[in-house]
Amino acid sequence: MIEIIVKATTANLGPGFDCLGLALDIENRVKFIESDKEFPDKNNLIYLSTKKIFDLSGKTMPILQIEQQINIPVCRGLGSSAACIAAGCIGGNELSGAGLSMDELIKIGTEIEGHPDNVVPAFLGGFTVSSLDEGKVVYFRQEAYEGFKYAVMYPEFTLATSLSRGALPKEIAFSDGVFNIGRASLFTAAMIAGDGELLKYACKDKMHQPYRKKLIPVFDEITSKADSLGALSSFLSGAGPTIIAILPHGERGFEDAMKEYLKGMDGNWTLEMVGASNVGATILAK
Ligand code: HSE
Repeated sequence: MIEIIVKATTANLGPGFDCLGLALDIENRVKFIESDKEFPDKNNLIYLSTKKIFDLSGKTMPILQIEQQINIPVCRGLGSSAACIAAGCIGGNELSGAGLSMDELIKIGTEIEGHPDNVVPAFLGGFTVSSLDEGKVVYFRQEAYEGFKYAVMYPEFTLATSLSRGALPKEIAFSDGVFNIGRASLFTAAMIAGDGELLKYACKDKMHQPYRKKLIPVFDEITSKADSLGALSSFLSGAGPTIIAILPHGERGFEDAMKEYLKGMDGNWTLEMVGASNVGATILAK
């Protein structure tokens, strides 16, 4: 038996569509237990990722049961699929003895997910910038600055990434591209330097949020309220519908006031205050 801890991740962080990512301290635990009973769901993403590693290493996968303790909200833009993929790849690597390197696992995980922005921090923890270069996942990782905390706000409705990506335009204006490059670069600098003042400008986005917010009707109200309550910035987490507000670590009062405000919003929103996680997918026990 092995047990793996995997973390939630947030992607895009406003302007960094498909490249910026951050691991959050919300965890799932996944147990792989050798069994004589077939795992019932062969389309399960953990199962598929584990099997992929066995197949690539030329080994036969034993019959396994997969048990999960789930805290990462599913289909909410908090990297639940990347967490499953990271757990499956790391579990498969350990159980098969394939001996693949972390970079090889990240590449395989990114191929399964389609883009690297949740996958890289799911494996490595921390704040990450990642990009695909002819199939290679090129990334930068930095320990997340401890002076920020994150108000993670998610509704009871889910939003499939495919539907949310389907809301995006095929082309954007050159000026919007310039806008986003500037903000994504500022965001990266702000996270490295721990500069909350920069974040007030750096989370703005013209590439995906304006198109996606029609799928989250209270997006503008919630982000405006978060800003008025002292958030440094707020953004759509990944493909949504979760909204995250970044706050200075020592801040007091946001959580209670925002929870009160959210009670009046359609969607039955939950707010969790969490820190970033500098730990990625980890094997806990053998
Ligand atoms: N960058 C991705 C998106 C994250 O926004 O669609 C969700 O998988």
